[in-house]
Amino acid sequence: MSTQAVIVCRDFLSELQKSIGNHTAESIFILTDENTYTLCLPLLKQNNTLANSPVFSIRAGDSHKNIEALASVWQFLSDNGATRKSLVITLGGGMVTDLGGFAASTFKRGVRYINIPTTLLGAVDAAVGGKTGINFNGLKNEVGVINPADTVLIETSFFASLDHQNLVSGYAEILKHALIDSDSEWEKVSAFNLQQFDLDNLRPIVESSIAIKEKIVALDPYEKNIRKALNFGHTVGHAFESISYEKEQAVLHGYAVAWGMICELYLSHKLLGFPKAILLQAVRIIKESYGSFVISCNDYERLYELMTHDKKNDNKEINFTLLGGIGDIRTNQNTSQKEIFEALDFYCDSVGL
Ligand code: GLY
Repeated sequence: MSTQAVIVCRDFLSELQKSIGNHTAESIFILTDENTYTLCLPLLKQNNTLANSPVFSIRAGDSHKNIEALASVWQFLSDNGATRKSLVITLGGGMVTDLGGFAASTFKRGVRYINIPTTLLGAVDAAVGGKTGINFNGLKNEVGVINPADTVLIETSFFASLDHQNLVSGYAEILKHALIDSDSEWEKVSAFNLQQFDLDNLRPIVESSIAIKEKIVALDPYEKNIRKALNFGHTVGHAFESISYEKEQAVLHGYAVAWGMICELYLSHKLLGFPKAILLQAVRIIKESYGSFVISCNDYERLYELMTHDKKNDNKEINFTLLGGIGDIRTNQNTSQKEIFEALDFYCDSVGL
């Protein structure tokens, strides 16, 4: 996999100019959603090269990360004469960077692209590491390719327009990166005040969090082994996310991952001796900042069933990444249904009631 430059910008316009200048693009196209069109595009348009670049805006929201929106981007590129030497800039959250990256990666068998994530979740996760794709047939990210953007430009001032819930949601992936990395990272990340959310204090945390993801992706870009560490919290988290949609009480992705991490830290403690003190510290942080999604034991079977459908599983066994301690990553862990139900009991007792 080609390497990807990830730049947390101090001077966004000059980094943008350098990134565009690195390309001998015949033409440049910008993809936004209806929010970033208004809130973020004006800054990009201050760049002279981009002033007249065609812009295509897709509808915001994960439900529009679909084949129809993808086809509309291909149509836009085709109608505007994009060639293999064009450049696509995606400007938005994970939905825009995933779909736009996939559109670019497939149009004329691959056009180069730059990701400019505008959400915290997108910056620390979706925009980095080359996963692109769309939802299909009711399944999230069912169709896509791994093909990294040439450059990922992060401008933290874009996060100022996010509401508190979306910031907290993005921070869940930062908590995850710290847990899979090191004591020192966890110490720093767990001390951040999620109630205040100071964007200046956030900046170095974003930098180190992305560096953790980049390090893991560089070792295993196609997720054969160690990249599975990035799925920590997501096996149970995706089940929480899906059941929240079924109950018509949709929760943001990061919230579901945070609650999933409580269950998977419990399993890590029970099966691999993950330290109880850190488990309880994580529970306290998550309870304070993410509240809870109320489930009862009547939901356990359905949650379990959702976990068995996770596409990360092998041979129908639920495939967990667990931790023997902070930074002690154990991929391909299987557990019994009884242990998973026990983890859900722990979640209910600690935050979920
Ligand atoms: N979002 C997890 C990964 O990029 O592998």
